Amino acid sequence: MDVAIVGASGYTGGDLIRLLLAHPHVRVVCATSRKLAGKPVVSVHPHLKGLIDLSFSNPSPDEMDADVAFLAVPHTAAMAYVRPLLARGMKVIDLSADYRLPREVYEKVYGVTHTDYFPAPYGIPEIHRDSYKNADFVSNPGCFPTGATLAAAPLARLAHTVIYDSKTGVSGAGDNPSATTHYPNVADNINPYKWTSHRHLAEMRQELAALGSRARCYFTPHLVPVNRGILTTAHILLHEPLDQADVDELYRKYYDGEFFVRLQNPVLAAVRGTNFCDIRAESEGERVVVVSAIDNLGKGASGQAIQNMNIICGFDEREGLTGAGLLP
Ligand SMILES: NC(=O)c1ccc[n+]([C@@H]2O[C@H](COP(=O)([O-])OP(=O)(O)OC[C@H]3O[C@@H](n4cnc5c(N)ncnc54)[C@H](OP(=O)(O)O)[C@@H]3O)[C@@H](O)[C@H]2O)c1
Repeated sequence: MDVAIVGASGYTGGDLIRLLLAHPHVRVVCATSRKLAGKPVVSVHPHLKGLIDLSFSNPSPDEMDADVAFLAVPHTAAMAYVRPLLARGMKVIDLSADYRLPREVYEKVYGVTHTDYFPAPYGIPEIHRDSYKNADFVSNPGCFPTGATLAAAPLARLAHTVIYDSKTGVSGAGDNPSATTHYPNVADNINPYKWTSHRHLAEMRQELAALGSRARCYFTPHLVPVNRGILTTAHILLHEPLDQADVDELYRKYYDGEFFVRLQNPVLAAVRGTNFCDIRAESEGERVVVVSAIDNLGKGASGQAIQNMNIICGFDEREGLTGAGLLP
C-alpha cells in the first residue's frame, strides 16, 4: 500500500517514516512539508539516511495519491485535509486533536472554530477497536490521554475520583522551539505546567465516561528533561476497597491478549521507540496507584496511528511495531 504523510518533517511525521520502514505491506510515497518542499527527507531526519530515498513535497489535498494518509500536522491544519483525502478514496488517520472531541467541546477547549466537523472514532484500539475496524477515518488520541486512560481503564467503573500526574519528555511539544523547551529551562529541571487546565483533560474525561465511569477527573503535567516518554501516575480512589489480588486479577483480565499493554514495572527507557504501554497497579485499599509508561511519539502518537492503520486496513495489529525498546 502507498502511504502519504502530511507533516512529515516534524517529530511524529519522522517517527511514522521510521516505523513504516519496518512495515512489510506499505511504502511511503509522499512526505509533505511546506518549508522543506524539494529537500530530501533525510535532510531533517538524518537517522533515516540510506533507508529512504524521498524528497519532501507540498501537494494540495486534491493532488495527493495514496491508499492511506497520516495527518501529522497541528490542530486546525488537519481539518482542511480530511474530507478531500477521504473523497479521493484514501483511508485517513489524524494525529491532531481536530476530531477527538465533539465540536462544541473542541471549540471551547482549543478556542478555535471547527470548519469541517463530523463525529469520528477515537482510536485507542485496546478499548474501542471493535467500533471502528471497518472505518475509513480514525482520530488518533492525544499522548497524555492514551497513557492515562490505559492506566485507569480496568478500574474506571469502580472509581469516584481519578487524579493523573504525568511527566513528559520534550518531544511532546513538537519540533518548533520555544522558551518552554529551551535547553536551560529543561535541562536539570522539572517544570509543572497547565496545572489544572491542560487541553488533554477533556479527552481524559471523555474516555472515562466512555468506559462507563462517573468519576471526577483531574490532571497535572510536568515537563522533564528527557526527549521521549510519558510516565503517568494515576491515583484512583475507589467506592469500595480492593486488595492487591483483586486489582492484579482485574488488570490481567482486562489486558489479556493485548500485545501492546505489558503488565510490568513501568520505566520510560523500556518503551522508548516502541508502541508498548507498560503498566503496574498497587493497591492500598481505597486508593490504587497505577503507573503507566509510553513513548509519546510511539503509543502516544505514531505507533498507535500505525496500529490504527493496521486495524482499518485488515493487517495484523503488530505489523511494523514489534521492535523492542532501547534499554539502557
Ligand atoms: N509530539 C508528540 O508527542 C505528539 C503526540 C501526540 C499527538 N501529537 C500531535 O501530532 C501532530 C504533529 O505533532 P508534531 O509533534 O509532529 O509537530 P511538529 O514537530 O511541529 O511537526 C508539524 C508538521 O506539520 C507541518 N505543518 C505545520 N503547519 C502546517 C499546515 N498548516 N499545513 C500543513 N502542514 C503543516 C510541519 O511542516 P511545514 O511547516 O514545513 O509544513 C511539520 O512537518 C500535532 O497535531 C500534535 O498535537 C503530537
